[in-house]
Amino acid sequence: MNPDELYRSEPPVLERERVRLRPFRAEDAAPLFAIYSDRETTRYLARPALTHPSQAEAIVTRALAAYEDGSNLQLAIERTSDGVFLGMCLLFHFHKPSARAEIGYTLAREHWSQGYMREALHALVEHAFGTLALNRLEADIDPRNVPSARVLERLGFKPEGTLRERWIVSGETSDSLMYGLLRREWARASRADLPVRPAASPRCAR
Ligand SMILES: CC(C)(COP(=O)(O)OP(=O)(O)OC[C@H]1O[C@@H](n2cnc3c(N)ncnc32)[C@H](O)[C@@H]1OP(=O)(O)O)[C@@H](O)C(=O)NCCC(=O)NCCS
Repeated sequence: MNPDELYRSEPPVLERERVRLRPFRAEDAAPLFAIYSDRETTRYLARPALTHPSQAEAIVTRALAAYEDGSNLQLAIERTSDGVFLGMCLLFHFHKPSARAEIGYTLAREHWSQGYMREALHALVEHAFGTLALNRLEADIDPRNVPSARVLERLGFKPEGTLRERWIVSGETSDSLMYGLLRREWARASRADLPVRPAASPRCAR
């Protein structure tokens, strides 16, 4: 299977002890709106809080379309015990010739600090380096977002530098602290038995 077919293939269901990552459904728009309209949750995100439920419906519509075109992979996170919608995570900014993508994630505030996101991202990272055969994952976080940095570092991501005043969101300027994780580091850390990466395509101009 070539990489393009891989990215466009059926979105996965990834099961862990306490969380399940699954494709979005239309009814996820309501809990997504509750999460993304909360100003404390969106404090360090790259877009302002949502103000209308139709914006969450548009997020779901775009996520479903992206399953078809392979441009990104957004998954809902639900609690395995009762199916409660906890949040979402995604792979985006795919650079296929470099086998690279960015990772993003948000959890509903009432479920913070219970280790749910670490469990969810462990599954997503394993999918990225395993099934999708990526070589590098990166994350762009606000340096003030300590819980986000903790989650990444517990997964083995390394801080790679600060890009100053990279974002202006709702009139507030903030830096980006970039994190990176390489497939070989993940393989070492998780001792995972990973499939062989597809042959590299020619490097394209940036
Ligand atoms: C960032 C976020 C996903 C973390 O999810 P979570 O499930 O609460 O994370 P976890 O419980 O796995 O771990 C959080 C870690 O941060 C620590 N932490 C939480 N709040 C903290 C604080 N204010 N100061 C320092 N550490 C803190 C926890 O103790 C834990 O550390 P540990 O693993 O060493 O015990 C969640 O807070 C969130 O959705 N925030 C809003 C959206 C967001 O900022 N997304 C990231 C964009 S880059």
